[in-house]
Amino acid sequence: MTTSAPVNPNQALWEKGDFTRIAATMRESGEALVQRIGVSPGLKVLDLGGGDGTTALPAAKLGADVLVVDIARNLVEAGNTRAAEQGLTNLRFEHGDATDLKQLADQSFDLVVSVFGAMFAPKPFDVAREMVRVTRPGGRIVMGNWIPGDPTLVAQILKISSNYTPPPPEGFISPMTWGVESHVLERFGAAGIPPEKISFARDTFVFDYPATPAGFVDEFRRYYGPTMNAFDAAEKNGKAGDLQRELEDLFAAQNRGGATTSIPATFLRVTVAR
Ligand SMILES: C[S@@+](CC[C@H](N)C(=O)[O-])C[C@H]1O[C@@H](n2cnc3c(N)ncnc32)[C@H](O)[C@@H]1O
Repeated sequence: MTTSAPVNPNQALWEKGDFTRIAATMRESGEALVQRIGVSPGLKVLDLGGGDGTTALPAAKLGADVLVVDIARNLVEAGNTRAAEQGLTNLRFEHGDATDLKQLADQSFDLVVSVFGAMFAPKPFDVAREMVRVTRPGGRIVMGNWIPGDPTLVAQILKISSNYTPPPPEGFISPMTWGVESHVLERFGAAGIPPEKISFARDTFVFDYPATPAGFVDEFRRYYGPTMNAFDAAEKNGKAGDLQRELEDLFAAQNRGGATTSIPATFLRVTVAR
């Protein structure tokens, strides 16, 4: 008889499909964000939920010593392949969970970055505590979090998708709550960070896809775990066509590109001074 480890739904969601297909459309903004937040040679950086390296790779190219911890094993592998292809010996990807970074020592990083990463982990108070614990005094934490109810792309994809999926289990805390300042203050406050050390800014990520908006919807349908789950649920109710149409309308309305797709999306940038 074989026994298998219990499935972690958080991990299963992000190992589903292939997030690298979506990340490929986010590279320019990832690089620009890293330039904006100030990364210098030798800086010790942890990129939490860093996927295949949209922010980690440019940080390493600037000379930082970067570790990515991500829960999706396929993305860890994809990231290590990208690092090797680029000859970056100062960039490593490891499997791990933002809610419990027991493999990492206290105060071991100058900068902890998490761009649309740790927000997707369950137990947000544990995540805040772990991010604070591994950051050295005088260091920084920078998070990028999608904003609930925001009219731009990602918040709207998640909102539309939620209308087609069964309600989440009791006690589930929406990742989008990380885009609400009061929740962020409360979570870092519980980890010992006073409000005056936390600042907020609205920032923008642009998704660049080299074909039509409808083609980009297909990428989400085929490769983005949350959208794949929404289509699985919609198909059971005979509503997949409705979901497809709603997403195609959304992507077309948000597109600022011409023949190809370029869609800006607003997020909350959180900076914590440790
Ligand atoms: C939307 S993707 C963003 C990836 C990357 N930061 C980027 O901008 O391309 C969310 C990432 O968070 C990771 N993630 C989700 N829950 C996590 C957890 N509990 N611990 C570590 N990583 C997690 C996923 O595996 C995925 O790589």
